[in-house]
Amino acid sequence: MSQQNREQWGTRAGFLLAAIGSAVGLGNIWRFPYVAYENGGGAFLVPYLVALLTAGIPLLILEYAVGHRYRASPPAAFRRLARPAEALGWWQVGICFVISVYYAVIVAWAVRYAGFSVTQAWGEDTEAFLFGDFLGVAEAPGAITSYNPGVLVPLVLIWIVVLVVLALGVRRGIEWANRIFIPLLAVLFLVLVVQALFLDGAEIGLDAFFAPDWSAITDGSVWVAAYGQIFFTLSVGFGIMITYASYLRRKSDLPGSALVAGFANSSFELLAGIGVFATLGFMAASANVPIEEVATSGLGLAFVVFPQIINTIPIAPALFGLLFFVSLVVAGMTSLISIVEVVVSSVRDRTGMGRLPAVLVVGGLIAVVSIAVFPTDQGLYLLDASDHFINQYGIALAALVIVIVLAWLLRSMPSLRGHLATYSSVPLRVWWAVTLGVVTPIVLGWMMWDSLSTEFAQNYEDYPTWFLNSAGWGVAIGVIVIAVLISLIPWKRRAGDDDDSNATVAAADDSGRGQ
Ligand code: ALA
Repeated sequence: MSQQNREQWGTRAGFLLAAIGSAVGLGNIWRFPYVAYENGGGAFLVPYLVALLTAGIPLLILEYAVGHRYRASPPAAFRRLARPAEALGWWQVGICFVISVYYAVIVAWAVRYAGFSVTQAWGEDTEAFLFGDFLGVAEAPGAITSYNPGVLVPLVLIWIVVLVVLALGVRRGIEWANRIFIPLLAVLFLVLVVQALFLDGAEIGLDAFFAPDWSAITDGSVWVAAYGQIFFTLSVGFGIMITYASYLRRKSDLPGSALVAGFANSSFELLAGIGVFATLGFMAASANVPIEEVATSGLGLAFVVFPQIINTIPIAPALFGLLFFVSLVVAGMTSLISIVEVVVSSVRDRTGMGRLPAVLVVGGLIAVVSIAVFPTDQGLYLLDASDHFINQYGIALAALVIVIVLAWLLRSMPSLRGHLATYSSVPLRVWWAVTLGVVTPIVLGWMMWDSLSTEFAQNYEDYPTWFLNSAGWGVAIGVIVIAVLISLIPWKRRAGDDDDSNATVAAADDSGRGQ
């Protein structure tokens, strides 16, 4: 795929919907409400907004700038910046590979739970149902001994949809999928939140969610949580935005687009917080227990607590369940599509493969790994360990290394800022380079130190060391080693390789049709 023939988004709105679709994912619906609640409630919004403005949006703009200027997915884009930097791009590709194999599995669970919610098939003991009847989780990490068709079937369907969307291309596949999914998600979620707000006790949940605990903002770990949430939710550090921005036309307002995508994502997140806490308030009121007893995160919230709540909702419980789980499926699908596209696009850019063969070979490989490993009695352990380690020592570490390399080693910020300024509607002042070059590395470095000390003090979730060394550290470090090895492969030279000269970029500029 030469720079000149690169696929393009049909419209700016199409690109924005895809960027928002990537950002709004499983993390918005279950992760944000609990992180905010645990870290000061209403007061958390202060560090959250600071993190959004000082790291999230600047990093989003940086990823847009790299993808747009070099018109390539991460490995080729970084290679054009500086030859050895190609490994950074493959690192992001590896991260996307790992995330996509398990992210699809959670979406598959949500598909089944949407079905279960019609008759509340999970019964009274929703925890025993999830871990026993539905997932059949083994007693402890070990060898795979059984396969779970209940997860396998929706998982295969999800992979078929993802691969078909990707095979249809940027405009007819990804853009169209987001044009359908994002408005659908907005409607489903609005109806869900309105239904939640009318539940008895909703105000107890909202009080707990918003009541500011101002002492929290003097606590360092609250700031770490805010920055962590922002990276995850905006999908920065995965290389997704580099890839999506590489399909933009030349005349594109990148900082303006980053602001729209960033604030749309945060608005959705806030709405999710309101909906989830109104619902938890209902549960606390009906069980007559304090809200802290029902507020939980991740799997527990979506697949244990929500089913319990749905069991007790007086009016239209099936509708409530369907709205919640279908929203999870839709939000998860648009993020999953974006994550797999990074891998497909990177392999295409490096090998020159056509879209269909790349989707079949690369997307097919990801699907096979996902389908072979996760619908098993070990699936949950593998998912939990790889998710924790690839987030901490994949996404966040890659973001840290990338800002240090770009800001301090390659000193690329002035030229990227110049590039951004060309069509920008928002003046990008020196704050952009300062926040990225100084604030982001300090905060990310601190986060890394904080989580490494916890890691070495105690095994994550008390899992056995052999298991963490293979499914956790092994995966995170393995991705880095493989990335370096792939970057050393002597690929056939492609137009624009190794070339950050103005000539290449100008040639690409000239070929772009204005928007
Ligand atoms: N940003 C995506 C999410 O929130 C990955 O799930």
